[in-house]
Amino acid sequence: MEKPFIEVTDLTRRYPAAKGGEPLTVFEHANFSIEKGEFVCIIGHSGCGKSTIMNILAGLDAPTEGGIIMGGKEISGPSLDRGVVFQNYSLLPWLSALKNVMFGVRARHPDWSRDQVVAHSEQYLEMVGLTGGAEHRKPAQLSGGMRQRVSIARAFAIQPQLLLLDEPFGALDALTRGTIQDELIRIWSATEQTVFMITHDVDEAILLSDRILLMTNGPFARVAESVVVDIARPRQRAEIIHDPAYYKIRNHLVEFLARRSKELSGSHGREASGGPPLTVRPGLKDPDDKEREPSWPKLVSAVG
Ligand SMILES: Nc1ncnc2c1ncn2[C@@H]1O[C@H](COP(=O)(O)OP(=O)(O)O)[C@@H](O)[C@H]1O
Ligand SMILES: [Mg+2]
Repeated sequence: MEKPFIEVTDLTRRYPAAKGGEPLTVFEHANFSIEKGEFVCIIGHSGCGKSTIMNILAGLDAPTEGGIIMGGKEISGPSLDRGVVFQNYSLLPWLSALKNVMFGVRARHPDWSRDQVVAHSEQYLEMVGLTGGAEHRKPAQLSGGMRQRVSIARAFAIQPQLLLLDEPFGALDALTRGTIQDELIRIWSATEQTVFMITHDVDEAILLSDRILLMTNGPFARVAESVVVDIARPRQRAEIIHDPAYYKIRNHLVEFLARRSKELSGSHGREASGGPPLTVRPGLKDPDDKEREPSWPKLVSAVG
């Protein structure tokens, strides 16, 4: 079988003990893979290590044990093949919105003329609705939501193979959020891009993803389940909520977050750790399908 695009193997992140404290194991033995072109969301309670996993994927942090292979190569540092939208925007404060975007575009396309770089960057700023002068303002002169939009434009504009998004829409109002979600899906469907996105919004995760990874609570968090979103695309925000599969998936996610993320955490989770996450398909179209009876053991199977 062909190797997956991204293979995360036994990924573990521990922090040494602070003065007088205990060492901290944020998560251990995270094992999952992502196919080329897949849209994967990861959900888990605050502090379970989602941003840490993303930083390791970005090459900005290193695991204590285990590793990640992307496109046949071990991730060992940052690369223009991976575009990141951070939870806290992290723009260069001395540059205008436009120049923040141009910075990455220029690095990506060193052979382009200045006009080409400007035109390309402006196109992405337009996509996130930053025009009419706002593009010439510095981050301190922009609202939180506007800064987040610059950060999204900057990541998208380098057209990376892998987009890493850390709660990218959290600071946006509902209308902008919807527009940028639609734009993200449009760009993603039109390209070979692979997306790994952190969100705390289960509805957003179902609307956008092919698959949702569920993490148990930290410390000693694990990637416990891989939930398949088998809802046909294109998905319309207003229509998807009438799909029976939608509620099955939603209930499964909410139940995991409310109860099982805790039950599976800590020492109990540790005993069970090490393997790949369980693949779950709560939204199966035909629950009476004889092939899938009896339901529980066959609905859940380990991914290879
Ligand atoms: N530099 C650090 N030193 C010690 N602990 C850290 C450091 N960075 C993050 N942590 C801890 O790692 C855990 C996971 O953090 P994070 O990945 O940001 O979680 P999430 O994004 O899921 O909310 C938290 O308990 C956090 O306090
Ligand atoms: Mg985080």
